[in-house]
Amino acid sequence: MKNKVALVTGGALGFKDGGPSIGGASAIRLAKDGFKVVIIDFCPTGSKTVETIKKNGGEAIFVVGDVGKTEDVKKAIRAAETKLGGLNCLVNCAARYTSGMAKNVVEISEDEWTKTLDINLGGYFRTAKYAIPLILRSGGGTIINISSIDGFVALPNFSVYCVSKAAINGLTRSLAVDFAPKIRTNTICPGFVRIANSQNNRTPQQLEEWYESIARQYPLKRACEVEEIATVVSFLAGDESSYINGASIVVDGGKLIADDHKF
Ligand SMILES: NC(=O)c1ccc[n+]([C@@H]2O[C@H](COP(=O)([O-])OP(=O)(O)OC[C@H]3O[C@@H](n4cnc5c(N)ncnc54)[C@H](O)[C@@H]3O)[C@@H](O)[C@H]2O)c1
Repeated sequence: MKNKVALVTGGALGFKDGGPSIGGASAIRLAKDGFKVVIIDFCPTGSKTVETIKKNGGEAIFVVGDVGKTEDVKKAIRAAETKLGGLNCLVNCAARYTSGMAKNVVEISEDEWTKTLDINLGGYFRTAKYAIPLILRSGGGTIINISSIDGFVALPNFSVYCVSKAAINGLTRSLAVDFAPKIRTNTICPGFVRIANSQNNRTPQQLEEWYESIARQYPLKRACEVEEIATVVSFLAGDESSYINGASIVVDGGKLIADDHKF
């Protein structure tokens, strides 16, 4: 992947202490694969991802920006072109979580509904819209959209998030049909992944209890680590996935296919 360039939205490491994030791990992995990487995130810990990449001998740029703002998205794409020489891979990962969006359709405010869709779906659309012309000018490439198993099943009282993830799977199929053969587009649908930003104010013991209670619901009896998603990003970004286009790849340790009915 020498001389190829990737753009990762939501590529900052955890906002408190630079702990694990899916976008951060994906950016670090793509840099190890040889991609030069641009990260866009509104969280300043994007600089920590860049530091890690540089420490490993890679090349990366951090653009502080909001994927809800067209100008910020265009700034990141311009940085890919002018500073790194083009664009071959887009990883859409940035997503907003608020307590206000953790509601059912009756309870959620119209404002939360609209704002969440504008980032969690609109951010993927907006970045793809302005990145695709550069990917085509750069000779083609790949788009990887991070969705969720909640694009297939409904997490209770998380309505707008589930809707945004289901729509990302649809967006992926449209991109995969409209821009092949020059661009392959695929979705990764993770189950629960251990990330720093979801730890909230839990003590280490509460955190372990929380992880254990989630792990019990998964056939593999553990939560996913960010690197296990980054590995799939790497595969979809590279030539070894050359015939995979428009797929929604579930990476959930078997959660979706398991019937936990007790006889
Ligand atoms: N962690 C999980 O269990 C899990 C499971 C399934 C899917 N996902 C998906 O993985 C992706 C990455 O999430 P994560 O779990 O690593 O969480 P995270 O909070 O570590 O990452 C999300 C990143 O997006 C950034 N962001 C949010 N709004 C933004 C905006 N408007 N502009 C720019 N940056 C913005 C945040 O600052 C953060 O760095 C998300 O799409 C999420 O829905 C996560």
